[in-house]
Amino acid sequence: METKGALDALLHEERVFRPLPQLVIEANVNPQEYAEAMKLASEDYLKYWEEAAKELDWFKKWDQVLDDSDAPFYKWFVGAKCNIVYNALDRHIETANKNKLALIWEGEPGDTKKLTYYELYRAVNRLANALKTLGVQKGDRVVLYMPPLPEIVIAMLAVAKIGAVHSMVFAGFSAKALRDRITDAEAKIVITADGFYRNGKVVNLKKVVDEALVDGCDSVDTVIVVHRASVETEMVDMRDVWYEDLVRQERPVCPTEVMDSEDMLFLLYSSGTTGKPKGIVHTHGGYMVGVHRSLKWVFDIKPTDIFWCTADAGWITGHSYVVYGPLMVGTTTVMYEGHPLYPQADRLWDIVERYGITIFYTAPTLIRMLMRFGSQYPKKHDLSTLRLLGSVGEPINPEAWVWFYTNVGRSECPIMDTWWQTETGSFMISPLPITLLKPGSATKPLPGIEADVVDDDGNPVPPGKGGLLVIKKPWPSMLRTLYKNPERYKKTYWEKFPGMYLAGDVARKDEDGYFWIQGRSDDVLNIAGHRIGTAELESALVAHEAVAEAAVIGVPDKIKGEVAKAFVILNAGYEVTDPDKLITELKSHVRSELGPVAVIKSIEFKDKLPKTRSGKIMRRILRAQELGKEIGDTSTLED
Ligand code: PRX
Repeated sequence: METKGALDALLHEERVFRPLPQLVIEANVNPQEYAEAMKLASEDYLKYWEEAAKELDWFKKWDQVLDDSDAPFYKWFVGAKCNIVYNALDRHIETANKNKLALIWEGEPGDTKKLTYYELYRAVNRLANALKTLGVQKGDRVVLYMPPLPEIVIAMLAVAKIGAVHSMVFAGFSAKALRDRITDAEAKIVITADGFYRNGKVVNLKKVVDEALVDGCDSVDTVIVVHRASVETEMVDMRDVWYEDLVRQERPVCPTEVMDSEDMLFLLYSSGTTGKPKGIVHTHGGYMVGVHRSLKWVFDIKPTDIFWCTADAGWITGHSYVVYGPLMVGTTTVMYEGHPLYPQADRLWDIVERYGITIFYTAPTLIRMLMRFGSQYPKKHDLSTLRLLGSVGEPINPEAWVWFYTNVGRSECPIMDTWWQTETGSFMISPLPITLLKPGSATKPLPGIEADVVDDDGNPVPPGKGGLLVIKKPWPSMLRTLYKNPERYKKTYWEKFPGMYLAGDVARKDEDGYFWIQGRSDDVLNIAGHRIGTAELESALVAHEAVAEAAVIGVPDKIKGEVAKAFVILNAGYEVTDPDKLITELKSHVRSELGPVAVIKSIEFKDKLPKTRSGKIMRRILRAQELGKEIGDTSTLED
């Protein structure tokens, strides 16, 4: 298909893209099986999930599929015993997968590491034994603050294997953000690296950990440091230990802890509408069922696939679809350490060609960034091994969709636009390879998931009309609670419409029942696919001595989807000699408070912010003014 023609068509009509007949014939789930699954799920969704659970190994089967007696604290596969690591690793050692590549890793300078399932298994066991030697016990929290290295996979699995809980903190977060998360999780161990390569430079990661640990964090006994980069690293006596030294003497065999289905597997912090991030809790049993089923069906995993999800393991996408999902289905997962434009804009296509990647799953912001450099970069490479593409993190605009489809997917590879969240654990609304696609729509809820779009009273809205996205039935990989804050869990997700999960997104359904996600309905921004609360940015701003009050809004951006703009009231008496200098200082202040993910694009000084009579900042008004839109209802405005 010719791109320009397709683009014009998309702007004026809703086009439908049909999968190639060959893909449909060979799909793991063919149209008839899909129809049967939908029928079963709508008649008896617990039976549907029970069937999905039977594809995994359990030490003991469940007595009950779902216990909803204490809703919304749902429990799945009650009474069952399992461990996700048994399914991701141990069971493959008994099959032909033993000597298959589990992981292909490429460093930014071009070095590579490949681990078979057996090699990964042994590395995990060594670290698991070492953690036990350090006194880590079932239920203890271990914080991982690591760049994309093979050891991040090893560490996640080792922690889970012995029944401890991992809490990953993305390596782009600041020392303060890391400290807050370590403190909240009361972590015993931190695993990190000395540094890593990003955009031709070395990032000194260990220094951030040292900075985080100077203040508080009394729970931390040991910091394990992976050696990656040539960077001077100070090791604190009695606290810090090199990873290599730690595992060298350990045996490559370690029993896998028998966990209750509902035991905590990991804790992952995500931004919410208050300044304090939410510790999202996932458990072994339900999470493994949701992730395994969704990956196998949506990305149609075949024994010969090489699967590359470009997400960092520090986000939920990395947890579910770089690490646990690919390993559970026994495929080969790919990780790349560095920057996508290093040394030039074809790095990703070069990787696809060299390893013969068959499935490529990425984010719209990255597609838009690469699109800017033109189609000559993908054209330089043989991308013919690709069979399926995927997108996640934000709505994909049709222009980016068509560019991706045409230039990367040869107008043959369907794009799986997967809608889901840290909270949902696995895909919720997504096509399968057999689905008719409409660019920009995540299509329909997967079998077993009942999603809808409702008005403010919880009533379904007619096709074409916008409303709030809800999930009407619990699902196995759902979050169980917010760490140490069950009240906030209830309030955030279940209070607005009792019995329905409130996703926090605005969406509409069309006449065909296709879902079109439009963005967040709350004060959470989605910058380049990363969630960040306006409240977090605002509290970082007011922590600066010049700032009295701040309001942050999201404004559209061509590449990042959305960027943050701040309105700031300065402290009375604060002398501004050079406003531009102050703006630069405030931006870098926020960055040092929250890390490089927290980018404020522009700052405007104000004397006053629009507020309700009860004193809440009306960001909606600032946004409307900024975008030149109707201001709407101002009846609650202070004056
Ligand atoms: O607004 C939706 C958007 O990302 C939010 C979830 O963010 P997070 O928990 O960080 O997880 C991101 C990766 C799963 C959602 O509430 N979002 C995610 N996927 C899509 C999306 N918006 C539109 N289309 C998607 N495919």
